[in-house]
Amino acid sequence: TLNAPDHVPLPQPVLAPLTRAAIFLVLTVKPEPESCATIRSFCSDLAGLIRAVEFRDIDAGLTCIAAFGSEVWNRLFGDPRPAELHPFREFRRGNRHAVATPGDVLFHIRAGRMDICFELATQIMERIGDAVSVADEVQGFRYFEDRDLIGFVDGTENPRGSVALGAALVGEEDALFTGGSYVLVQKYLHDMKAWNTLSTEAQELIIGRKKLSGIELSDTAKPPSAHTALTVVVENGKEVKILRDNMPFGQPGRGEFGTYFIAYCRTPRITELMLENMFVGRPPGNYDRLLDFSKAVTGGLFFAPSATFLEDVGE
Ligand code: HEM
Repeated sequence: TLNAPDHVPLPQPVLAPLTRAAIFLVLTVKPEPESCATIRSFCSDLAGLIRAVEFRDIDAGLTCIAAFGSEVWNRLFGDPRPAELHPFREFRRGNRHAVATPGDVLFHIRAGRMDICFELATQIMERIGDAVSVADEVQGFRYFEDRDLIGFVDGTENPRGSVALGAALVGEEDALFTGGSYVLVQKYLHDMKAWNTLSTEAQELIIGRKKLSGIELSDTAKPPSAHTALTVVVENGKEVKILRDNMPFGQPGRGEFGTYFIAYCRTPRITELMLENMFVGRPPGNYDRLLDFSKAVTGGLFFAPSATFLEDVGE
């Protein structure tokens, strides 16, 4: 049973630094009640499993975040629910579509090297494989100078330190879920042939930053449709932030070039507002031209409860 915590709950490592490697594993939980029991008992064992794999190369900085979708939350944990957990909200306009795709559980595994991420994913599947189906699995890598595959430095404006903490973690507004975080993921595929036909200047107007230096275009040079204009959200006169850890992925042999978008926020509202600005436009029609070259093929919203919550599951 869940009681209001009498101590400050420990968050999962949402604020872990960017790493060279990551695995994004999205699973659906099978309908049988045993499947839920398997996942529940796994929740309290996860921390120990991570510690065991982490210790094989402590310098690799292995972290793992487990997060849960809206529908499965009730099946796994019942009431109470995180106040703002709901199914992924789709946005659609013209040929742009932020799709919702199946997914109950998300594992976001990060480390300085892929082998240790791979090992943890293997061990997780060993434990819960019979209870789940795999909806999506992506291995991401850090590209030159923290660039995404469209060639721009990605992550510059991420909040740091205490600002990141305040942006990403649920506080007193939902006291039973303090220390948790809403995670939104989308897998994007880029049309690199079309993107590469653009001049560097045209690409810079789409992103709103210089390609080589990563420096922001001046207010007069940056069009209102720029990616870094539409993703700036101001509430009560203050800019509100999300915490991103995008990773490139792909298979050049198959012509697949992608960005796995992942963002943590203390409320899904902010990330959804950014999506609306990008896909529908602010004002409607003034949309993000990055979407003329990038297609979202998955979309999911999850809640990553505190580590304390996970350890207490099943007690
Ligand atoms: C900024 C790339 C999707 C939110 C940026 C920047 C790049 C970039 C290159 C500028 C550097 C930086 O500050 O990080 C991409 C790519 C995407 C993608 C390749 C997928 C195709 C998204 C989505 C959202 C988003 C879906 C939100 C729902 C942001 C935010 C900023 C940003 C908040 C910082 C804006 C600022 O404060 O200047 N992105 N992005 N991005 N992006 Fe994205």
